[in-house]
Amino acid sequence: MKKQFIILFIAFTAILSSCTVKSSKVSSDIDNKVDSILSLMTLEEKIGQLTLYTSDMDQTGPFIKKQYEDDIKEGKVGAIFNAYGAEYVRRLQEIAVNNTRLRIPLMFGYDVIHGHQTIFPVPLAEAATWDMMAIEKSARVAASEAAAQGLNWVFAPMCDIARDPRWGRIVEGAGEDTYLGSDIARARIRGFQGTDVSDVNTVAACVKHFAAYGASQAGRDYNSVDMSERMLREVYLPPYKAAVEEGALTVMSSFNDLDGIPATANKYLLNDILRTEWGFDGFLVTDYASINELVTHGVATDTLEAAKMALIAGSDMDMQAGAFNKALGKFVEDEKLNEGYIDDAVRRILKAKYKLGLFDDPFKYCSVEREKAEIMKPENRQAAREVAVKSMVLLKNQDSLLPLNKSVRSIAVIGPLADAKQEMLGSWSAAGDYNKAVSVVEGLQAKVPTARVTYAKGCNINDDNTTLIGEAVKAARSSDVVILALGEGAQMSGEAASRADISLPGVQQKLAEEILKTGKPVVVVLFNGRPLTINWINDNIPAIVEAWFPGTEAGNAVADVLFGDYNPSGKLPVTFPRSVGQIPIYYSMKNTGRPADPKSKWTSKYLDISNDPLYVFGYGLSYTTFSYSEISLSSNNFSGKDSLQIKVTVANTGKYKGIEVVQLYIHDKVASVTPPVKLLKGYTGVELNPGQAKDVIFTIKADDLAFYRADMTFGCEPGDYTIYVGGNSRDTKSAEFTLNLPL
Ligand code: GLC
Repeated sequence: MKKQFIILFIAFTAILSSCTVKSSKVSSDIDNKVDSILSLMTLEEKIGQLTLYTSDMDQTGPFIKKQYEDDIKEGKVGAIFNAYGAEYVRRLQEIAVNNTRLRIPLMFGYDVIHGHQTIFPVPLAEAATWDMMAIEKSARVAASEAAAQGLNWVFAPMCDIARDPRWGRIVEGAGEDTYLGSDIARARIRGFQGTDVSDVNTVAACVKHFAAYGASQAGRDYNSVDMSERMLREVYLPPYKAAVEEGALTVMSSFNDLDGIPATANKYLLNDILRTEWGFDGFLVTDYASINELVTHGVATDTLEAAKMALIAGSDMDMQAGAFNKALGKFVEDEKLNEGYIDDAVRRILKAKYKLGLFDDPFKYCSVEREKAEIMKPENRQAAREVAVKSMVLLKNQDSLLPLNKSVRSIAVIGPLADAKQEMLGSWSAAGDYNKAVSVVEGLQAKVPTARVTYAKGCNINDDNTTLIGEAVKAARSSDVVILALGEGAQMSGEAASRADISLPGVQQKLAEEILKTGKPVVVVLFNGRPLTINWINDNIPAIVEAWFPGTEAGNAVADVLFGDYNPSGKLPVTFPRSVGQIPIYYSMKNTGRPADPKSKWTSKYLDISNDPLYVFGYGLSYTTFSYSEISLSSNNFSGKDSLQIKVTVANTGKYKGIEVVQLYIHDKVASVTPPVKLLKGYTGVELNPGQAKDVIFTIKADDLAFYRADMTFGCEPGDYTIYVGGNSRDTKSAEFTLNLPL
């Protein structure tokens, strides 16, 4: 045995050293290196690479298996998640590298969804910036902090389009729109993976949850998804595809079934679309123990069969189910499973490890010095503050109550979110330390140190206790202005956090009513992970700022906006309904054959509420005002071989410098398939000083008008179109053009 081992060790060292020598050409001959190692692996070692277990440092699913260190030692694990820290990861990696025969390094993954230790605004908030540089920066900082703590793989970006705010995971994505969501997916991949994923401050991204998880029926998490192929390809798939095209190293499948087949074992999704159509060559990881859930879904009789189904469909790595370890070896031995499926999966996983540089140095992410230097450094916090102010959306500002004057003498800061720190981080706050977060009270105190800031909780987030309201009313009466910090708890959105009623929870509206009765000027700052039906707040409170969950720098960012050190520029990436009864509601609806007409009974409307949302997609105010000229077109006709320039002049007609996100929508008047009333086809942020005007020019080509036509081919059609340009999806200037043949 000893002699064999020595020969083997020499052979492996030769491969490894040859890898080092060749590492400069890693991208060109990784396959050879992988095949060399694969040829040395036993079946059990191969299956071990296909297994991902969680450590017990954090829990992100229904159960944890405590024996993960023994599993590493026995070569039964290819990657660990929910473990971070340079020293802890080094210790786990040493177990793998020093105790297993082939010394194959582990990958270390974690849900770094909007920051690692420095927590950035939740992804839905970042989407409200419409600023791809800011979004990329957020992912860049998250990657550098995660990589400084031993991690080399993040389970992000979540690319699920969501149009149902009852679904708690709407907070983790980019909202309702395919075009914006695709841009954001690309920006996040660039941020996480950088230009070279072997760089020590970059990490492998993981595009999730593939696919269409955001369409879970009734907004209930994990629920079934059923939709036409057209809807799937037109609306839900493009952001995942954009992320894959941007070079994502991994993809995670979703819990839901799609058209009756759970994604975990859905060959059409995982192989035909992802690999054959899109050419994805990374590896696919399942979601948390979802292989075992194939039995619960009712498509597998037991977890052994489930494991085989998942592997054959295209699942390469088994997260937490332990099903591959349990089942695959016996199927191969009994000649009931072609070992080639296992080899293909192992190859894809080993390739990722090579690309990360883990074979060159398994401990490259485990530097205590780099960890100390990188984590929560001031520039990371500053970056989080900058993204946070850009994510906030000014929903109402009656009589220009905002921005507040810094000479204000007394401020009452009231509400269950006013002094909250943990809530400010939102769900999926990774390694974020909420003790280092800045509360709204702290942010205001820092902004106006000479003012008297009085805090009163007023009520809890979500119960019927009204005993604290009196004290809050007193605080309001003795102050010049009231900041009401209202909203949801951080865990009221995110995974397994669907709500059938999306109004302000508890007695928060009652608190607001009592505070309003004092006659003091009141500003509501909302902290929430989904659109809320805040009709009474909108009708009665003079100023409203949507702050989402702003992260570590929450209080400072809120203060920056309320006192005008940042003029809000955020625009809603998701429609706010007036009632949960309107859901699904989104801007790009179809016209129907009987569009709503309040004067006619026989039209598509409700008896008890208008079809209009509370706030439309793309909506957001500024402390200044902007005017739009009429649209001028380079031509009213164009064909497939040329392009069309669309120009508007936007002017700042107010008294504050500000950024306006100018949005371009297009409506195809007649098509072979019922066209949405409008679709986002472009946007750009333009910064204007008071009195300044700038021309904003969009260029479109025929390809930008492509869609899945009646015969399911993807392309454009000649005909008449309407263009809409404005600061949201409703208040727009319009113009007409015709797309002519040849296309
Ligand atoms: C969870 C989530 C997924 C996450 C994974 C690992 O169940 O669905 O988004 O990345 O498990 O924590």
